[in-house]
Parts: sequence; C-alpha cells; structure tokens
Amino acid sequence: MNKSFHAFQLVKDQIADLDLQLLKRKLRITSSPCDTKSLVDQRQLQAFCSNDYLGLANHPQIAEALALGAQKYGVGSGASHLISGHSIAHELLEKRLANFEAKYIPDARALFFSTGYLANITAITGLTRLGPNGQASIYSAKLNHASLIDGVRLASSQTSATVTLFEHTQLSSLIDALKKDHRPLKIIVTDGVFSMDGDLAPVKDLLAIAEKFDALLLVDDAHGFGVLGKKGHGILEQEGIYSDRIIYVGTLGKAAGVSGAFICAQDSFIEWLIQKGRPYIYSTATPPAIAHALLRSLEIIESGQGKQRRTQLHKLIDIWQTEMHFSQWGKIASCTPIQPLILGSNANALLAAKLLDEAGYWIPTIRPPTVPQGSARLRITFSANHSEDDVRALIQTLQAIEKIVIGKTV
Ligand SMILES: Cc1ncc(COP(=O)(O)O)c(C=O)c1O
Repeated sequence: MNKSFHAFQLVKDQIADLDLQLLKRKLRITSSPCDTKSLVDQRQLQAFCSNDYLGLANHPQIAEALALGAQKYGVGSGASHLISGHSIAHELLEKRLANFEAKYIPDARALFFSTGYLANITAITGLTRLGPNGQASIYSAKLNHASLIDGVRLASSQTSATVTLFEHTQLSSLIDALKKDHRPLKIIVTDGVFSMDGDLAPVKDLLAIAEKFDALLLVDDAHGFGVLGKKGHGILEQEGIYSDRIIYVGTLGKAAGVSGAFICAQDSFIEWLIQKGRPYIYSTATPPAIAHALLRSLEIIESGQGKQRRTQLHKLIDIWQTEMHFSQWGKIASCTPIQPLILGSNANALLAAKLLDEAGYWIPTIRPPTVPQGSARLRITFSANHSEDDVRALIQTLQAIEKIVIGKTV
C-alpha cells in the first residue's frame, strides 16, 4: 500500500464516520442573488438563513457602487496593504468606520480586513504579543465564534499566554480567575451577539470587570454591526459604552451586505496591529472596489433607509417572539435577528430541515461542533426584506412540522 493510498483510505473512513454520526455537511448551490427568495439547486425557496439582516446584499445602489469601484480601481489590489495594496478607497473606508465607532472608543482608528475570521485572528494574536516575554492571560467566552476560538488557540501556541474559558451568563468565575491573575496583560474576548443563540454578551458588566482588573475587552460584534443601536453602529452604541479598553471587531459581509471586516480601537492598538499583525501584513489587500461598495453600504446603514430597515427587522423579531408557540420546542429569548430552535439530536434537526425544504423553506441545521453536543438546531434568521406575513407563514409551517418531528421521535 503506498502512502497516498493510505491517506485516501483515511479520508474515506473519516467522511463515512461523519455520515454515520449525521454530521456530514452538504453544499447547496444558489444561482440567484442573496435575498429572502433564493434559487437553490434550481428550486425557488423562501430563505431564513442568511446573515444579510438589513437586506443589503442585493441592493442596487451598492451593486452599482461595486461596478463603479471596479471601473475606477480595477479588480485586484495587487499586494498586501504595506507593500502597495492600500488604496484611497481602503483609506476612506477605514476613516468612515472609525467615525462610526468614534462616540464609543476615544481616539478611534479602524483597520479593514478581507474577512472577520482574519480580523479576529489578527486582533487576538497581535494583541497577545504585547505581553512582555509573551506573558498574557486570555479570558474567552465559552460560546464564542470559531474564529475567536482559533485566534485564542493560535495566540496561546505562539506565546506563553494562558487561556481561561468563562460562561458569559455567569461572570463570577471570570472575576475569581482575574483576582488571582498577576500577569501584565489581560484580554477578555467575547462575541457581542452570540452567533448561534442570538443573545447579547453582557458588555457593560464585562467592561466594568475589564476596568477593575486592568484588562482589554475584545468584542466581536459580527452580528450586531448595522443591526443594533439607533444608527446601526452596533452593540457599543446600543449599550452606551465609551472606553479606550475596547477592541471592537465588526464584520461587513453580514448586515452591511458586502464582504470584509474591521477592527476599531484606540489609535495605538491599531498602529501595533499594522506593525505586528501577521495575517494583516502577509495577506493581499481586499479589492478596493469592495471598499468603494462598502462606503455606499455604510451611508445606507446610517440613513433614514437604514433606520427603516432596522425598524422592520425589530417588528419581525417581535412577531416571532410573541406569536411563536410550540408544544415542546423551546424558544430562546433573543432580541436579535438570530432566532434558533434547539431540537436536540442531529436526527431531529435534519428531519425538521428536510420537512422545511419540502415546504419550500431554506433553513439549514446547525450541528456539533458548531454548537454543543445534543443542541442541534435550526438557526432561523430574519432580514428586513422579509414581510410580516412571511414570518407568520413560517410560524405556521414550523408548528405543523413540530408535530411530525415529535411523532417520529422515539
Ligand atoms: C461571531 C462571528 N465572528 C466572526 C465571523 C467571521 O466573519 P467572516 O464571515 O467575515 O469571516 C463570524 C461568521 O459567521 C461570526 O459569526
């Protein structure tokens, strides 16, 4: 048996094992723009699954800005930001993003990234390196997104940083651990909106703790930026936060409807990440046309139109929270467009998703390791482009599906 054959056998076995555990994931191909109605594998489905919360992913003015950006700047940046890839479109976007968060972070500066995954990895590994002789402590919320988890893992493998996990709903263990911590650099890391549950991090309490124990507080507001706060500035606006200890990460491929992400923090932290943030330094800059399109998206988010879209979204969330009643399935009290239905076993979640598909809906299952064992779920998300009738029709369909799934559960 040659080596490559052995690897081939291993991969076949591992994939078969995933299938057996009902954990194999499947790609579905869309051939229409991202919107509430999608052409999926050649069938038109009503989608309640994207993170396009404000319904901007298919906005004609943003699409036009992207085309204009390509005419103006071409299609590629050609190099990393520090070599030659940093265009005026990136610079203008970063200024605009810093302006978005300036009321909540003194002396705010922003740095644009191609993805939130990369922004999180850069922020955590870069900031951890500030610890003298690699000495730092990282406190990470247990249900944080994979990109934060991976950032923490990478940071601790590159330095002698220690890692402590904490429950975001119960902060006493975090406080107890910090009381005993004499390391020179401490970083608390949390999702702003928890991506698979939809609930909010207690950022005010976390900030008070960060201040008391002289820590930085990194808030990944991937699902709050554009959605939370009157102007859509995100969780810092909604919670009335103002602090130079905050390292804020917002993503731009969700509510902003395009692609990319940014870190916003007090100017010196951003300067440090430009100097030492390896994924930032060693990666080709996003096409400037994307930055150009994002400038239009940010204008919309802050405008009356953005406000109307947030109002619509909150109307839909209210309808869901007040009118959705199931006989057994539980509802999470979420005030965000992420409204999961936790069904427990992978089999139940897959059956519910299949029945939804047959009824013309697209709501995929979320299974471990994305969520804890035994908490497989449907992750239902709303967009401002959904109507109130869309949400009511979904509730009725789900109520019928619940009966079938419960009837088949042994
Ligand atoms: C909480 C959170 N942070 C970061 C990311 C990564 O952002 P991006 O998709 O831009 O890489 C995601 C993506 O789903 C997320 O949910």
